[in-house]
Amino acid sequence: MNVLMPVFLERLRSDHARFSKVLTVLKEQIGAVQRDQEPWAGWLEHLAALFEYIGEYPDMEHHPMEDRLFDCLVDHGLTPAERGLVERNLAEHAELTAATRRLSEEIQDLLSGTEVHEATLREDVLAYLSMQLAHMRREEEHLFPLAEKMLTSADWQALESKSRHLEDPMFHQRQARYQNLYQFVTAAD
Ligand SMILES: [Fe+2]
Ligand SMILES: [Fe+2]
Repeated sequence: MNVLMPVFLERLRSDHARFSKVLTVLKEQIGAVQRDQEPWAGWLEHLAALFEYIGEYPDMEHHPMEDRLFDCLVDHGLTPAERGLVERNLAEHAELTAATRRLSEEIQDLLSGTEVHEATLREDVLAYLSMQLAHMRREEEHLFPLAEKMLTSADWQALESKSRHLEDPMFHQRQARYQNLYQFVTAAD
C-alpha cells in the first residue's frame, strides 16, 4: 500500500478543516450583521488578522502544495472535464492570492483612517469568503478523489519529497498576533 498518499492528502484535508472553520465563522457573523445594528468596524480587527493569516499560510503553503499536486495530475490522461476542473483551481489560486493582498490592503487602509467605500469592501469580503469555501469544496469533492485514483506511488513520493511540513501559524504555532482571532473562532464551537 502506498502510505505517502494518505499523508500528503491528509495534510491538505486537515488544512481545509481549519480554513473552513475560520472562514465559515467570519462569513456567518459578518453576513448576519445589519450595518445599522452593529458597526462593521467591530469586525475589522478579526478580518485584518484573517487576511494576514491567509496571506501567510493558505496562500504561501497550502496552495503551492496543491499546485504541485495539480501540475502532476494534468499529466495523467484526464478527461477534458477533469482537466477543466484542475485548471480552474490552479487559476483560482492566483486569483485568490491577488484578492487576499488587495482586500488586506483595503482593510488596513480603513483601520488607518483612509477613506474606503465600506459597503463595497464588505460585499467584496463576503464574495471572497464564499469563493474560498467553494474552491475548497471542489477540491474535496472532485480533485482530491481524482488524485487518489490517478497518481502513482512514485508521484506521491516525489510530491512528498518537496513538502516543507510547515506548521499552521494560528492553529498549531498559536502565534500571539492570531490569538484574538483564534479565540473568536474557537468560541463559536
Ligand atoms: Fe486550492
Ligand atoms: Fe485547498
